[in-house]
Amino acid sequence: MIDKNINQPIQEIDESENISTNLSDNRPFSDVLNATMTRRSMLNGSLAVAGATFLAPTPAHALVGKYGDEYDKADSSIDFNPLTTEQVNAAEGKTVTISSDYEYDVLIPWGTPIHPNSGVAEYKGDPNTRPTAEEAEQQIGIGHDGMWFYPMNLPSSLRVDMHLYKRSKRHPRFAERFKSKMGKWHLNSRVGMLVINHEFGTNSHVLGKSLPESLEDVKLSQAIHGVSVVAIAGNWRGKWRHIGNKNNRRITVNTPVEFSGPAADSALLKNLANNTPKGTVNNCGAGPTPWGTYVTCEENFNGYFGSKDTSSWDADTSATDEQKRYGFSNDGFRYGWHLFDDRFDLSNPDYANEGNRFGWCVEIDAFDGKKKPVKRTALGRLKHEAAAFMPEKFDERAVVYMGDDQRGDYCYKFVSDKAWREHLMDGESPLDHGTLYVARFDEGADDNDGMGTGEWLELSMNNPTLAAHFNGLDEILVYTRVAADMVGATPMDRPEWSTISTDGGVFWTFTNNDRKDDGQGAVSEANPIFENKDGHIIKTMDTSDTTFEWNIFILARNTRRPADAPAADSNDKAYAAYTAPADNGANVFSDPDAAWADPFGRLFIGTDGGQSDGLQDQLVVINVQTGEYKRLLSGVASDEITGITTTPDYRTMFTNTQHPGNGSPENTNFPAPFDGVTIPRDCTLVIKRKNKGIIGS
Ligand code: FEO
Ligand code: CA
Ligand code: CA
Repeated sequence: MIDKNINQPIQEIDESENISTNLSDNRPFSDVLNATMTRRSMLNGSLAVAGATFLAPTPAHALVGKYGDEYDKADSSIDFNPLTTEQVNAAEGKTVTISSDYEYDVLIPWGTPIHPNSGVAEYKGDPNTRPTAEEAEQQIGIGHDGMWFYPMNLPSSLRVDMHLYKRSKRHPRFAERFKSKMGKWHLNSRVGMLVINHEFGTNSHVLGKSLPESLEDVKLSQAIHGVSVVAIAGNWRGKWRHIGNKNNRRITVNTPVEFSGPAADSALLKNLANNTPKGTVNNCGAGPTPWGTYVTCEENFNGYFGSKDTSSWDADTSATDEQKRYGFSNDGFRYGWHLFDDRFDLSNPDYANEGNRFGWCVEIDAFDGKKKPVKRTALGRLKHEAAAFMPEKFDERAVVYMGDDQRGDYCYKFVSDKAWREHLMDGESPLDHGTLYVARFDEGADDNDGMGTGEWLELSMNNPTLAAHFNGLDEILVYTRVAADMVGATPMDRPEWSTISTDGGVFWTFTNNDRKDDGQGAVSEANPIFENKDGHIIKTMDTSDTTFEWNIFILARNTRRPADAPAADSNDKAYAAYTAPADNGANVFSDPDAAWADPFGRLFIGTDGGQSDGLQDQLVVINVQTGEYKRLLSGVASDEITGITTTPDYRTMFTNTQHPGNGSPENTNFPAPFDGVTIPRDCTLVIKRKNKGIIGS
């Protein structure tokens, strides 16, 4: 989601953040990356050490990975023809463009009936009509973001897998034999459940007006937010469609949910109104768990709350320190829900703690449409961007890496108490029992080399500082940001997605932060640019539960041509000085946001921000072994490319265009052909290589 931490209408903010800077010339970028990477040849299994550490397919992708022989030899090459700036510019932001070696289709645009043939009409973008709230609750939502593909035979495969694990426990002498068979499943690449987040849709896009005028308007806005679970299938030609399934469902901010974990029974999650917990909202990134469920992340939840009566609650005079730390305000992001729905009215004392019920990681079962989503409090309450689970190969516990997306906020990690399979065997969730940490990035031996060490600081009552301030773990988890402030975590340049590398390291995207002069964040070795307009990517590698090493993987501004070189700033760390690329910069990118590392050594990045050269937001692929980098796909005007998942054979990828045209038909009517009238609709893009090869190859 683009940054909304300034007091403007969302529509305006979207537009200002997505204006391209329209530069000239070109240059590829791999040498920039190479230079950066070579200099810090890395703790992390890239480049020089790649041969030794890199080559096995990652069981991390056990859930979606196919364990056939063809993947035994990792090949991180990216041999496709990159999408050129000229191709992108020729589309004038009206339509999605893709490398000449690839093709794409559109799947499940906003307004698609969740149950095909149910009689619910599709909303196709007619500006003169809008779905009713009731219809919208039975349609795919808007703001397509994080998602994951779950092969239809996954549950049965996991059941067998767990059976083998239990046998390995009962028969220790043969444990290795049983374990050697685990994960060897040919998962289905033709049919599965797609679980997809609907992060947000502005009122102007959804309602056709800036504020709701009735509860019905609010209910429509609420219905297009949330999550969809929908079965999809591809035919022999590779054409995908959504299909009927008893587990197809919409989850919205009005769907019953449960709280679980250490804060589940906290008084901070109860209201005088005694209303039962409902809903999830602003679902940004996501992550698949090793046990086959989906974790959706609640990001800018504060934006849906406001004060209807500022004489009773005013942000300047009434907000608690904790409410301020989470950004509650009188108008929120101007959705206006609080005007008609008491739950979101900060001035209503009956719902004083409703805001505490959001900002969580929420677990969803794609294969049980009746199961309530579960808010896992042990993972803390923040503006959760996404959740990356460490593969079992590297750690048998549930180890989850999570960013808190705000300028100057932090990187987090959760570690379960024991192997996740042991938790499941004991009838409990691995996400309910464990320890939450926040990251401090230290300089290491040299304070000016773009790499260092770090500590994972425990957020629990074991920390005397926290024990002196908080009454219990539940308070620490509800007010995680406050606890993280107290232990001295390192402010970062907007932590977005995290993803696990083939060597067990973690790539983190930091999308941008040029407001350090306002005290939002600070220059440090890990955030070396004072006005970091373009963002950067860091790789971390844990060296123990509580320590890690890190290095800057790429500073996105080093992809810019010399003519567009940023002015030097005396506040920048010296090592981060702009490095002129050796050649033409055709593949310039900025504002890295969505991220996914494949099992072959490629890093896919979706961007969200104004791109150079008149480019739209894009999907780029980096060969992390060689530093080579290419543009695979580009979106339409004012959109964002986000959400990345593939079928188990890695031959079909799904990604999303979010808020195409910022909802304005004058910009684009995608996925409809340009007519200047039809309202553009967020949708999933199905990507295939024309030679049927692995995506990114
Ligand atoms: Fe929803 Fe930080 O992006
Ligand atoms: Ca994002
Ligand atoms: Ca250093």
